[in-house]
Amino acid sequence: AGTLGAAAAQSGRYYGAAVAAGHLNDATYVATWNREFNSVTAENEMKWDATEPSRGSFSFGSADRIVANARSNNMKIRGHTLVWHAQTPGWVQNLQGNDLRNAMINHINGVMGHYRGQILAWDVVNEAFADGGAVGTLRSSIFQQRLGNGFIEEAFRAARAADPAAKLCYNDYNIDDANANKTRGVYNMVRDFKSRGVPIDCVGLQSHFGQVPGNYQQNIQQFAALGVDVQITELDIGGSGTGQADSYRRVTQACMAVPRCTGITVWGITDKYSWRSGDTPLLFDGNFNKKPAYTAVLNALNAV
Ligand code: G3I
Repeated sequence: AGTLGAAAAQSGRYYGAAVAAGHLNDATYVATWNREFNSVTAENEMKWDATEPSRGSFSFGSADRIVANARSNNMKIRGHTLVWHAQTPGWVQNLQGNDLRNAMINHINGVMGHYRGQILAWDVVNEAFADGGAVGTLRSSIFQQRLGNGFIEEAFRAARAADPAAKLCYNDYNIDDANANKTRGVYNMVRDFKSRGVPIDCVGLQSHFGQVPGNYQQNIQQFAALGVDVQITELDIGGSGTGQADSYRRVTQACMAVPRCTGITVWGITDKYSWRSGDTPLLFDGNFNKKPAYTAVLNALNAV
């Protein structure tokens, strides 16, 4: 196949990109998105600050523009994200105890309800684990401090009820190395959720890379073996040229080698708009030309 999405579809997978509503007036951006990708994640537009800027008052204008284009082009849509310590509006940060719990559940119901039946997978909880400390240590956040470690489970239970058709993912960065403490903590949580019947369907490996871990495929495999799908959710890899292309090839091959690795999303279309300013981590250069990394990915998708 001649495009990323069509090539991924040959094995029943999707190949997506993060898209920002602020660039939808760039015709080349939209044309590249529509031509190459069969899935999308809103880069910021479905986050709490965007969707519920004041309590109980939901706004979906920017997210809806992305969703409308995705739906009219038959794309999958990943929902990102419901419960996260960042991009949470000020009014949430002042809530305590049950008030915060109720606001969290109401937020999940409001956003998932608006898109009910339209979302392939939701990042229900994002980046809840700490970067250091013993295995299983959660990041200190308003949710962890005021609701306790059980906030993750509570969010997943609410999410299942809000849209039973959506896959429910836990999404994080630095859980790409099979043996890292942070990875082990998430692994233990997923195993615990599966054993106790807490609803979870997928793990999102963000995969913001300098170097791709040597055991990345083994890591995808170990999560899949717990009975969840794995999605590569925010892929970007620093560098350029052949080295970057080789890294992209390895990531693609690792996903293709594991049946439960169901799709890949790159965190942007063009280097021009990447959140990693000063770097060139994506598949299209600033003029929307295909980079060596693009060709490496396309060939690896077509090789299956
Ligand atoms: O919308 C305002 C705009 O009105 C204002 O003029 C401008 C001035 O700074 O800021 C704009 O908001 C920025 C927003 O991106 C939209 O461009 C925020 O400051 C900026 O903080 C925000 O950054 C986003 C970041 O998440 C926030 O944490 C990035 O675009 C987005 O790529 C990034 O994505 C995260 C994932 O959600 C989770 N995993 C890590 C990943 C990379 O950090």
